Amino acid sequence: MRVLQLEINGDAREVAAHDHWTLLEVLRYSLGLVGSKQGCDKGDCGSCTVLFDGKPVLSCLTLAASAVGHQVTTIEGLAPKPTGTLQPVLDPVQVAFNDCGALQCGFCQPGMMLSARALLNTNAEPSREEIHQALSGNLCRCTGYTQIVQAVETAVARIAQGDGASASNDGAAGHSPPDGGVPA
Ligand code: FES
Ligand code: FES
Repeated sequence: MRVLQLEINGDAREVAAHDHWTLLEVLRYSLGLVGSKQGCDKGDCGSCTVLFDGKPVLSCLTLAASAVGHQVTTIEGLAPKPTGTLQPVLDPVQVAFNDCGALQCGFCQPGMMLSARALLNTNAEPSREEIHQALSGNLCRCTGYTQIVQAVETAVARIAQGDGASASNDGAAGHSPPDGGVPA
């Protein structure tokens, strides 16, 4: 084992890990960040997706040691850090997924949202095709993708309107998206 100095969700974390341990294993079993899901554990499903310097990677195929020197973002770190308000502020992608009911079991959702966030980091106005492409490595067996794509399009529209963030997460899943938020 050796001690790794990692940066996870903006925090410096020190963790002892064997060389063969994956980033997913360290996140879930050493650091307790279980938002990253262990689905197939072989690179097929995308449920373990995290951001590596803002870009999506499969943490089940990423050695923990390779994360040294990189900024890792998990679903636990997607929302902005609290700034003193008692109400949580969510990332626009999280708000849109919630509002569009883009989940059933939710197992795919962390990876989906992080892939969507990575897309929006580099492309403020993605086409539907580009959204499909960005999410193509994230499998969902529940929703059929319609609400998921609608959620990303809703986030895009709201961000463009300067209205992407939410001060609370009390919107019920399954709500209709706002007018103009979702192309037909
Ligand atoms: S758990 Fe990593 S791709 Fe499925
Ligand atoms: S909501 Fe169940 S796998 Fe996507």
